[in-house]
Amino acid sequence: MNSDIVKLLISEASKARTMAYAQYSNYMVGAALVVPSGRIYTGCNVENASYGLTMCAERTAIFKAVSEGQRHIDAIAIVGGPLKETRTGFKDESDYAYPCGACRQVLAEFLPDKGDIDVIVDKNLEDYKILKLSELLPYTFKLDE
Ligand code: THU
Repeated sequence: MNSDIVKLLISEASKARTMAYAQYSNYMVGAALVVPSGRIYTGCNVENASYGLTMCAERTAIFKAVSEGQRHIDAIAIVGGPLKETRTGFKDESDYAYPCGACRQVLAEFLPDKGDIDVIVDKNLEDYKILKLSELLPYTFKLDE
């Protein structure tokens, strides 16, 4: 993974995170993915008063991309963390936010033609890890194998 693209995805995910609708958990997540043409799609988590209807940031970004015709994802960056209330205001903490199991399974549907999806989890632009979807989700459920 080219480090310029990694940093761009992290900064786009951070920007998307500012749109998080997370008033019930106060855990704000942003995601940015890149498709083979180089186009980037972003998403944030969208919570609901009926908690189970919440949508994760990763799937928001994936469904935006797929609903606009994309079928393959090369990489996705995720930035997440709680917004904590303190005596002096709000403290925003970002830690490595690993995609949940449901998002891993949905990502696995849109692998690149050859290879794997890079999953970038990060604290900031300098402190990140690049993992492979295949290590996060071995033995993926598929209908055609
Ligand atoms: N969340 C995500 O957006 N992505 C994940 O992979 C895990 C969890 C969101 C859902 C909910 O709004 C908040 O984080 C706390 O679970």
